Amino acid sequence: MKHRIASILLLVLLLPLVALTPTGGRIPSYAQHGMVVSASTIASEVGRDILKKGGNAIDAAVATAFALAVTWPAAGNIGGGGFIVYRDHQGKVTTFDFREKAPLAANAKMYLNEKGELIDELNHTGLLSVGVPGTVAGLYQAHAKYGKLPWAKLVQPAVELADKGIPISYALNQQAKNMRKTWEQFPSTMAVMYKGDKSYYEPGETWKQPELAKTLKRIKKNGRDGFYKGETAEKLAAFMKANNGIITTQDLEQYQAVERKPVEGTYRNVKVFTMPPPSSGGTALVEMLNILEGYDLKALGYKSADYIHVLSETMRRAFADRAEHMGDPDFNPDLPIAKLTSKEYAARLRKTITMDLASASDSSRYGQLYEGTSTTHLSVVDEQGGAVSLTYTLERSYGSQVVAEGLGFFLNDEMGDFNPVPGVTRTDGLIGSEPNQIKPGKRMLSSMTPTILEKDGKLFMVIGAPGGRTIINTVLQVILNVVDHDMNIAQAIEAPRIHHQWLPDRLNFELYGLSPDTQEKLKIKGHNINELNHNMQGNAMGIIVIPQSGLRSGAADSRSADGGVAGY
Ligand code: DON
Repeated sequence: MKHRIASILLLVLLLPLVALTPTGGRIPSYAQHGMVVSASTIASEVGRDILKKGGNAIDAAVATAFALAVTWPAAGNIGGGGFIVYRDHQGKVTTFDFREKAPLAANAKMYLNEKGELIDELNHTGLLSVGVPGTVAGLYQAHAKYGKLPWAKLVQPAVELADKGIPISYALNQQAKNMRKTWEQFPSTMAVMYKGDKSYYEPGETWKQPELAKTLKRIKKNGRDGFYKGETAEKLAAFMKANNGIITTQDLEQYQAVERKPVEGTYRNVKVFTMPPPSSGGTALVEMLNILEGYDLKALGYKSADYIHVLSETMRRAFADRAEHMGDPDFNPDLPIAKLTSKEYAARLRKTITMDLASASDSSRYGQLYEGTSTTHLSVVDEQGGAVSLTYTLERSYGSQVVAEGLGFFLNDEMGDFNPVPGVTRTDGLIGSEPNQIKPGKRMLSSMTPTILEKDGKLFMVIGAPGGRTIINTVLQVILNVVDHDMNIAQAIEAPRIHHQWLPDRLNFELYGLSPDTQEKLKIKGHNINELNHNMQGNAMGIIVIPQSGLRSGAADSRSADGGVAGY
């Protein structure tokens, strides 16, 4: 509350300095020094407090990520994986890949029956769907190289949240109700998510997670080894073994996060730094921005049929490339990233777009698997102008649905992001292409697109979102809303979004996102339009540093139930 009043006061005082705020619309939160935006207000405040204590953006991101593992367990995690894009205050940009890996005992046909058909849900629910977690290794490595404050200080707030408990939000309460049937299959999950008598934690009641607190204490004390060795690793491997899972202590011990060079691009007057493979997100984002640079999007008219047409045709092309080429770079040494992100290639693709007719998605090529709807993104800007864009995930909401017994955290179902039926591709989106087939130790392809933009050599924007393949298109549209349509960060995040992913050949748009006349015009061009029954395409979390004033302006997507901005 105090923070909100301070934000409003600051806004009133500094309003004349605030550019990028056209009249009307939603208003971002403003802060002078540092800011954290995440899917949990409690976690954002944890990160903000770390910034206040002199931590840099990496420190705050680590603390926020651990806090989210307690306060937003659908996606905040230590049992999953993800990516960081980091720009230090001097402008050096790097990334950390802590994507999960296939266990050493995995193989390309592990989810098939004798007839070679995919066994329903085997790659998404239960212990066989779990990839070797990467989150703790990634946070640890990023902190070891670029953090300022001691590691233990960054994990401690999460320990306290788990030990002392958090008030159950309405969203957490609803999720526990919705998931009950699934979770009843898994006693270790029931034990954490419900009271002893299996009744619900009601909104406002305190929810403690003592087992998670103990796991976090080991991580606090022993760093990476607190997860990948010793008691945590042994308990996890024993739980796997007792329940037909395949992750062993060897898998855990061998897991390594990787620091990688960002994918870079330019779009009009901004420079783009984003995630390389094993995420497909950054490459597809830059490819789309390059194609769109050749259009005067503003002149087409925001959300006009022509505008939506051009976006959708661009998405179709980038997603076809994603399906054909993308996979773990450590197993696919010749990924054509330079070509896909070049201006020349974009110019060639642009020539194949005609204004009055939608092209066909050639389903004889490749497609992608449906990806679930729970991941989470956090954006941080520190006092010196360092920034972190971090997206991490359990894959679907609550991952494999299984809490590791005695350890208190949910295990991911990231194995579901591999192409599960080698060689078999269908128009409904099943894909069989080689670069993303399962191999022991391989990372599964991702769509997560944590991104940082620069303008005139200075930090400009930090952005990312959850939402499976929609992530790439969500990040794209938020960037277009800012760069082409002069929206502030709150308006840019809030605006309704569209999604096309090549296959299935369908142009989705959020509920009430397009007027009936626009829809009609798109149909005439040949688009297979589909109004969703919700307006929940990805909870984007973003920060813009206002060029004229240096003020941090941030917004947590109102699509996010518990999200919030914390600044100072
Ligand atoms: O890595 C990926 O692309 C997916 N596992 C992300 C899933 C996701 O975003 C679900 N979120 N809402």
